[in-house]
Parts: sequence; C-alpha cells; structure tokens
Amino acid sequence: MKIIIHGGFFSESSQSMATKIAKQQALRHVVKNAYDYLKTHTALETVAYAVEQLENDELFNAGIGSQIQSDGKIRMSASIMDGESTKFSGVINIENVKNPIRVAEKLFPTEDRVLGGEGATNFARAHKFEFFNPEIPQRRKEYEAKTGSKSLGTVGCVALDEKGNIATATSTGGKGFEIPGRISDSATAAGNYANSYCGVSCTGIGEDIVSTAVATKIVTRVSDGFTIDKAFEKTFAELKAIDGFAGAIAIDHKGTIFHLDSHPCMVFASFDGNTLDVFE
Ligand code: GLY
Repeated sequence: MKIIIHGGFFSESSQSMATKIAKQQALRHVVKNAYDYLKTHTALETVAYAVEQLENDELFNAGIGSQIQSDGKIRMSASIMDGESTKFSGVINIENVKNPIRVAEKLFPTEDRVLGGEGATNFARAHKFEFFNPEIPQRRKEYEAKTGSKSLGTVGCVALDEKGNIATATSTGGKGFEIPGRISDSATAAGNYANSYCGVSCTGIGEDIVSTAVATKIVTRVSDGFTIDKAFEKTFAELKAIDGFAGAIAIDHKGTIFHLDSHPCMVFASFDGNTLDVFE
C-alpha cells in the first residue's frame, strides 16, 4: 500500500514561513490518516477521502478557500479515476457545494460521468449535497483588492491499495480572476489519470497541463515500458518546451512513488507505511 498527496505550490517569495509549516503539518496529518483508511478501503475510496480532507482545509485552493473568478463567483472542478476499470468521473465549474470530489465520486457509477456548470450543481442538489458557500474572508479581500491570491494550485491524491489497484483524485478552485466558464485541467485526463500501470495527479497552470497532456502522457509512457522517472523526464521536457508551469505526483504498479515539478516547491507528502516524506 502506498499513498501520495499534493496541495499545490509553496512560494517563498509570496508566502510566509508560518504558512509553509502549517501546510507541512496539514499534509502530514492527511497522508497518515488516509494511509490508515487505505488499510480497510480501496484505492478509489481512499483518494476521495484524502481529497475531501484537503478540500476542507482552507490552506489549500480546493473546496473551502477556493479562488474567486472574475465575476465574483467560486466555481470548482474535481475528478476521480479508477486505474483497474479506467473509469473517470468529474464535475467542472460546480457551485456552492462543500466537497466537489464527493459529487465526482457520486457520478462514478452513472452513465453520464462528467458534468459541467449548472448540470453539475443540479446533480449535486438532486443527490442531497446541501448548499454550501466555500468562500473565506481572505479570498474575498484578495478579490476586492485585485491582488491575486497567495493560495496557489490544486489538491490531489494517488493511492495503490492492497490488491494492487491504483486510483487518483484531483480537485481545484481554479486560477482566480478567470473568465467565467474557463475549464481547469483537474477534471480532465490531462490533470488526473490512472490505469493499471500508473496513476498521476497534477497541479499548476491548467492551460499548460492540458497543452502537454501531462497525466495522460506519463501514464501512457509507463504503460509502454518507460520507467516512471523517464516518463516524468520526457513529459516535463515537453512542458518546458512551452514554458509550462506544473507539478505532478504518481505511483506505478510496482509501488514506486514519484513526484516532479517545474517550480522549486510543489507541496506534497507521501507515505508507504514506513517512510513519511514531506516537501521541504
Ligand atoms: N490546475 C488548476 C487550474 O489551472 O485551474
């Protein structure tokens, strides 16, 4: 059993040391909790569980604490993927729910598995996801001041369960100040992808991640025989060629945990039952 989570980026120039320590502590807590959960649950159940906890923590840009778009509204996106069946489900630009990842999970057994905008929000209401405003005062202050937010990125999780199945989940509050209707990578195969060989969850600029099809390419390369480090190396070289900004976490079917970013500090933590690794 293995697990890795991410919570976007930490920037020394725009975030305080206290924020860094708080993020390290939060990730340590979530990764350990989620690893315990994985002992009695599937990889698919566990990635939703881990991402829900990250969505509930306003330190991260997903669920509570999400970025505000240019029209003053919060729209969130999340997806979940099962490596064994290669089934993917997600919500794009959903509004006023606490945990977009739980709505994505609810769509998993349905026929129409990716819903956007009003359709996603209506689906949530029809399935008893109560109205919940994820806005926090700090985000509104940043929006009013037009300063942009210091809460960068997305949250995600990749898990490998006892049976050898891999699953991934990713959730985001978007870029902030985007044109309403802009679509993030997080509920696309570019930002969240898994099969029986590998699972990848991304963070960073959605447009760059989609241009490079980061998660899909890494997973496909591992499936075609690349080692996970080489699959990352080649894909991140392609990202660099477009001056792209992203980070990604992964686990392959052999249990190799891997992560890489085009930025000095992606916020991540991993646990394999013995070693807990947290970003420095
Ligand atoms: N990766 C999140 C976004 O670009 O919206």
